[in-house]
Amino acid sequence: MSDGGTAGRADFVVVANRLPVDLERLDDGTQRWKHSPGGLVTALEPFLRARHGAWVGWPGVADLDVEPFLDEDLHIHPVSLTAAEFAEYYEGFSNATLWPLYHDVVVPPVFDRTWWNSYQRVNRRFAEAAAEVSAEGATVWVQDYQLQLVPSMLRELRPDLRIGFFLHIPFPPVELFMQLPWRTEIVQGLLGADLVGFHRPGGAQNFLWLARRLAGFEPSRGQVGVRSRPGVVQVGDRTVRVGAFPISIAANDLDRLARTKEVQQRAKQLRAELGNPRRILLGVDRLDYTKGIDVRLHAMRELLAEGDITVEDVVMIQVATPSRERVEHYQEMREGIERAVGRINGEYGRVGHPAVHYLHTSVPRKDLVAFYCAADVMVVTPVRDGMNLVCKEYVASRHDLGGTLVLSEFAGAAAELTSAFLVNPHNLDGVKDALLAALNIEEAEGRRRMRALRRQVLTHDVDRWARSFLEALGTPHAE
Ligand code: ADP
Ligand code: F6P
Repeated sequence: MSDGGTAGRADFVVVANRLPVDLERLDDGTQRWKHSPGGLVTALEPFLRARHGAWVGWPGVADLDVEPFLDEDLHIHPVSLTAAEFAEYYEGFSNATLWPLYHDVVVPPVFDRTWWNSYQRVNRRFAEAAAEVSAEGATVWVQDYQLQLVPSMLRELRPDLRIGFFLHIPFPPVELFMQLPWRTEIVQGLLGADLVGFHRPGGAQNFLWLARRLAGFEPSRGQVGVRSRPGVVQVGDRTVRVGAFPISIAANDLDRLARTKEVQQRAKQLRAELGNPRRILLGVDRLDYTKGIDVRLHAMRELLAEGDITVEDVVMIQVATPSRERVEHYQEMREGIERAVGRINGEYGRVGHPAVHYLHTSVPRKDLVAFYCAADVMVVTPVRDGMNLVCKEYVASRHDLGGTLVLSEFAGAAAELTSAFLVNPHNLDGVKDALLAALNIEEAEGRRRMRALRRQVLTHDVDRWARSFLEALGTPHAE
């Protein structure tokens, strides 16, 4: 990463809570930049780099001012957060209020006025930073639930801008959204954009209903399509479009990486290190209570207990990136998962042969793809997920047509990946049946399913997602 000035203002600006790189403080007092976690960065970074755009975001460490710099072709504009704002805006309102509320209240959301005040303050700071960085008439693409007030705040500051907003997590059913004490402010915040995008038409439809109910507008009544037929809300003399744009991955890049000799050898080596079991199950997630890691562990334990699988035959690898580690429900979930792994290994493991290999870490891209190539069954069991990119990455990595995907119906990706074994993560017997079916699938049937999955993923990549959003936004940056 090179230091450098940020020459002038940018025509294309992404505004997200996190920068694509995170500053990490090491034990010896030094610091270094590392790749940020999560699907948002995975999806947007390659696209923005190719367009030499600017990225406004938080550098991942509180109480630190970082000057703007140039990271290869990307202009990076850090926004600072104090330790109190980190606790109230990020851990509090974003991740203990909005995150659980938008994920079907899988844990109870906390409604706290101090957090809300901090959310407003920080959103204003992001809007001011975006206003400063953007050239006349620029396109500004605001991302995700942490910044839902930015579109209207930015519009006030810079009416000349073209503003898009995309929500990377599910937009909840209206009955749940209505619990939020600041529901009207959020809807009005989003209506500052020219285009509001969701993963699924259902989210767009819910938002249109709320624009009528809470903001008093008369939205269009037709069904929103996927990348088509956006809804329309007339806000004064502005037309706000509301659409569905399912996000994806840089599928060809991953396909290419998976074909390299290095990755293939690493995958083979991995299988050998595990003792060449007949089947490997794999889970890869941010360590988040929405991801249903507990569901798959529970299913694995019962399959072992009932003698459907043995530890000599089948092993599970669970790779979990540390996430939001100071938030209470994340701490409880981590303890629960680690207890479950310990219990399974204690009851069913053998010396040198644990049933579950659990890695609490982020792994480099090449290693991750080697894991995908080595795994016979990818297990993706969220209780709710906006999209889930991991399952798409697995599919893109399997040019050999090997491997089987078990996927929750409650991931946005399930609407596209219909040739997976789709499961209801709340139905443990259903999950166990699907795992057994995936473990014992006939080769021809497995290849048929994987071929269909690959057709979908390779033709609907992240470039298509971004272009379709930007085309609907009506900006030249779609090219
Ligand atoms: P979310 O955005 O909720 O984290 P997604 O599945 O959409 O979930 O995206 C997760 C992204 O993070 C994927 O690109 C995935 O490869 C990456 N990722 C998840 N876990 C790990 C891990 N342990 N090591 C490296 N990358 C990971
Ligand atoms: O995609 C959901 C998301 O919350 C992104 O907004 C975020 O960048 C990513 O997951 C990782 O979460 P966090 O930034 O809280 O570590």
